[in-house]
Amino acid sequence: MKDASPQTIFLADYTPPAYLVEDVHLTFRLAPSATRVISRIRFVPNPDAKSRDFFLHGQELTLIRATIDGAEVTPEITEAGLTCAVPDAPFTWEAEVEIDPAGNTALEGLYMSNGMYCTQCEAEGFRKITYYPDRPDVMAPFTVRIEGDAPVMLSNGNPTGEGRGWAEWTDPWPKPAYLFALVAGDLVAREDSFVTMSGKEVALRLWTRRGDEGKTAFGMEALKKSMRWDEEVYGREYDLDIFQIVAVSDFNMGAMENKGLNIFNTSAVLASPETSTDANFERIEAIIAHEYFHNWTGNRITCRDWFQLSLKEGLTVFRDQQFTADMRSAAVSRIEDVMALRGRQFREDNGPLAHQVQPDSFVEINNFYTATVYEKGAEVIRMLKALVGDDDWRRALDLYFDRHDGQACTIDDWLKVFEDTTGRDLSQFRLWYKQAGTPRLTVTDDFAEGTYTLTIKQQTPDTPGQTDKKPMLIPVAVGLLNPNGDEVVPTRVLEVTEAEQSFAFEGLAAKPIPSLLRGFSAPVILTRDTSAEERAFLLAHDTDPFNRWEAGRALAKDVLTAKVTGRDGPERPYLDALAALLRDEGADPAFKALALRQPGEDDIAQTLFDAGHSPDPDRIHDAAETLKQQAAEHLQDIIPRLAAEMTIDAPYAPDAEQSGKRALRLGLLDLTTRLDGGAEAEAVHAVADNMTLSLGSLGCLIEAGRAEAALAAFHARWQDDALVLDKWFTTQIVHAAPGDAVSIAERLSRHPDFNMKNPNRFRAVFGALAMNPAGFHAADGSGYRLMAEWIARLDPVNPQIAARMTTAFETWRRYDGDRKQMIRGALEGIARTPGLSSDSGEMVARILG
Ligand code: PHE
Ligand code: ZN
Repeated sequence: MKDASPQTIFLADYTPPAYLVEDVHLTFRLAPSATRVISRIRFVPNPDAKSRDFFLHGQELTLIRATIDGAEVTPEITEAGLTCAVPDAPFTWEAEVEIDPAGNTALEGLYMSNGMYCTQCEAEGFRKITYYPDRPDVMAPFTVRIEGDAPVMLSNGNPTGEGRGWAEWTDPWPKPAYLFALVAGDLVAREDSFVTMSGKEVALRLWTRRGDEGKTAFGMEALKKSMRWDEEVYGREYDLDIFQIVAVSDFNMGAMENKGLNIFNTSAVLASPETSTDANFERIEAIIAHEYFHNWTGNRITCRDWFQLSLKEGLTVFRDQQFTADMRSAAVSRIEDVMALRGRQFREDNGPLAHQVQPDSFVEINNFYTATVYEKGAEVIRMLKALVGDDDWRRALDLYFDRHDGQACTIDDWLKVFEDTTGRDLSQFRLWYKQAGTPRLTVTDDFAEGTYTLTIKQQTPDTPGQTDKKPMLIPVAVGLLNPNGDEVVPTRVLEVTEAEQSFAFEGLAAKPIPSLLRGFSAPVILTRDTSAEERAFLLAHDTDPFNRWEAGRALAKDVLTAKVTGRDGPERPYLDALAALLRDEGADPAFKALALRQPGEDDIAQTLFDAGHSPDPDRIHDAAETLKQQAAEHLQDIIPRLAAEMTIDAPYAPDAEQSGKRALRLGLLDLTTRLDGGAEAEAVHAVADNMTLSLGSLGCLIEAGRAEAALAAFHARWQDDALVLDKWFTTQIVHAAPGDAVSIAERLSRHPDFNMKNPNRFRAVFGALAMNPAGFHAADGSGYRLMAEWIARLDPVNPQIAARMTTAFETWRRYDGDRKQMIRGALEGIARTPGLSSDSGEMVARILG
């Protein structure tokens, strides 16, 4: 059944549920195409409700029977659920429904993946399992009985019974339905245990399908580290007898924090040195931490409604970022977080999909699991911490857990905790949740009679549906250096609150060099007229590692934008500064590798657009290639020696130190490839005994145009490993020359190993095409047509992934008239697709504006 005509839901329309749930008992009789779900739910009238209308969500369900207090009833069924006359007193509802897991390709609700039953309920998938008040402010303890012939049958909470053909699980903690999970199949576990801070032993199990058990060691270690970290840093202890993770091959997102039973995309948990890159390991550690941390920030304290999504996601992303900073290099992880923020969230914020961290309305909530809600939400929390300081931060978090444990909360509840802890009025700060768009800061300075004055102007651009924004409270961390590179004023956080404001620093002997927005203290775009010499100076001397990197990046951007617009750029200072950094024995390899990386082509396109140009993707690509060639030539004396120093004798470990060395080695190899046509890359590839070097060198070979044999060998070796095969698809497209990218993607979409029903594989091809900007934006429009055709094809199979893929088009207004017209045509073609999902429909409409 198709959705009813899409409706807009408004935050302002929130009303409390009419009935609350005291407890839930579910029985599943598993069968691939005809699973029966029997529910017994005790409802009580909610004293705070405004109405007594009884409504249960339900979609794609066949109702077999329903009773109230044992007496048969005939509810009125609609496309969205059912209504029924009920007593104005507590009562027991029982229903039996039939569902079709095998036919569920949307991967929401109960579905099958490789013969295994699994569920995904966030945000609104539980209504595809049974009739229920599927909203997060209805929380209840669940008991689940699973009947079937699978050797392993799991649900949330603790095991409370099992026998031949059945298993029972009880979750004592009241939870919203979106945290429900069930898994059944022929699974194998890595088992371990953890003793909590109060001495309770928790059983740990990481489940995979047979054959993948060799890839679970790293994930298990990451889980134990996460559990310890949350105790040490936030005093949060785990609260059940068992914690389980299941790896699933077909999964729309990275992972899901279901209570006591996290479900993971295989790509977000399974790892081995032979099959996973350093970046994979780092991401897995962060996602395992993220889902585990949700046990407190998300599960014990959940969201009142989906407009509060950033309450759990912003906070949990912030916590996983803190964890990664503690486990690895704080400086490197901050730089990586900011690169990701700029690459995804700034892109979103500067286009037609810009929205608030807390939206006021939505059509399809699945379209709001965005970089803005997640990553900008985390930045907002980082700013809050900077404003209140570390001690009040910890006191406020204690109060939050204390006051709201077991509740479904709002972002206002969260801010109130900080107001009560510090006595501060946070009403201006709250604008960060309510004003979309990336604020622009413009800084000028002045020096007279020993006083240095910084003047900061702020302005937040208009975004769809939002104009005339108010000034926000922006923490700008600043330090001042003297011309020798000594820090004369250590980091100080300026609180910018006005549209224009000045800050004075007195008693200085000479005009200092400012280091602005240290650590990227606010998610803004800061501009200040800065000479190439000053940037080079900061790259060499800034004591703030983030700003040291930022200076190099700014210099590289100046070079690239100048090349594209045909101006003279600061190549010379940039390349000299890079050479000096690479020679600097004090700088660590990971940092050097990051500094060597050029700003992305999409970033340059946005920068040019902001400066009033319509960016030409081919010219941007050519500029990037030219600069790489220049860097290779300029650095050729340093490269061989430095590359040799990056040799690792110890056995492979995916830790920060080794990863940094490999990253630098590959960054240098990329340059060397410009000089030797790929000879060295071939040598590296031939002996690589880990996926990081193997895949990195393969990318170089593709760019050098000599990868044919290596690609064939790679496929032959890894054809039975889906996650490695995904990399094989992706790398060919990402590294393709712009003129070839579309035809390669098209050819790979016809490859026997391509399968659009698997989200990882679909993204491996079409997500990759979007990551090759010059290829995707081919002047003949072929990239647009191919993408649109596949989005329309995928939509009836998996609307969530189809909708997400439309973001490939979100930057369309930047481009020239011809491209704009072709993109509009592609989007309108998707919009005309008969039976288009509300997911994709909403996205296309918003992108077209
Ligand atoms: N809540 C999950 C997370 O942040 C993400 C998710 C959302 C997964 C919706 C599935 C569906 O970790
Ligand atoms: Zn999350």
